Amino acid sequence: MRAAAESPSKAIVSGEHFVVHGAWALAAAIDRKVRVEVSDSDRLTIASDRVRSRDSARLRPLETVVRAMAREYSFSPNVSVSVRSDVRPGTGLGSSASCLVALAAALSALHSLGLGKAELVRLSMEGEREVHGRPSGIDPAVCAYGGVILFRQGRAPTRVAVPGSRSLLLAYSGKQRRTRDLVERVSRFREGNPRLFESLGRSVSEVSRASAGMVSSNDLQGLGRLMNLNQAVLSAVGASDRALDAVAGLLLELGAYGAKLTGAGGGGCVLAVAPEGKEKSIISDLGGRGIESFLTTIPVGGVRSWLA
Ligand code: MEV
Repeated sequence: MRAAAESPSKAIVSGEHFVVHGAWALAAAIDRKVRVEVSDSDRLTIASDRVRSRDSARLRPLETVVRAMAREYSFSPNVSVSVRSDVRPGTGLGSSASCLVALAAALSALHSLGLGKAELVRLSMEGEREVHGRPSGIDPAVCAYGGVILFRQGRAPTRVAVPGSRSLLLAYSGKQRRTRDLVERVSRFREGNPRLFESLGRSVSEVSRASAGMVSSNDLQGLGRLMNLNQAVLSAVGASDRALDAVAGLLLELGAYGAKLTGAGGGGCVLAVAPEGKEKSIISDLGGRGIESFLTTIPVGGVRSWLA
């Protein structure tokens, strides 16, 4: 028997890091996919087109999910897992969450478990915890549900209406990093400045809720302004770096309404919104300066699986 699943990846629009400590955050699924195939086998094997065999320790979170599901649903952990990904790891676009959610969905299909999105998120969190210690759950949630979600830890995500097909601009800042290191860095800032962090967290929650309204009313200028505010706050708590600040600044110079790091920061991608029709010229200007970027749409659906 063989089954497959495909999950979108994600961009956080507002509230990364603060969401780990209880704030509201806003995230969008993006049309960069991770596809996982699983089939019965005589032993557990895992291969990914993004991971060289000498780095196979990076695949351990997938093994954790396979074993946790096998225990919980009483099936053999002997499966062959194969991953194909459009998403560069370490760029803030949720490659690990997308992969783990797709894996849980593929195993659910293989064993006819009929698991819903909330269950897939819960199971993928077994692996996410290994990837970066204390995940809020926003990454697997947006990969599983798709679209745009307003999220707070411990609550079911709220779907945000998106008028038409919205596109987002993403630019690589050049460096890859580990989410775990950045989450620890921001947590140290919080320990050193508890009252400041708490008050910033309350503001970020408001920014996330207001941003959700602006996504729904297609107020890109307003959304851009809030993204700039978000970038300043993320920079203040240690999540940004020079390259990210420079790429975000350049995006604004080239005409974007707003630009901010997305995901853990410390490298990775900058997310921007720009006037409709201007995105392509921005991408070409960035390319002329050696900065890779792309335009992506927000898929409405999240993870999907099928028997192959
Ligand atoms: C990573 O995409 C987002 C963080 O807030 C971590 C998390 O919420 O799990 C940095």
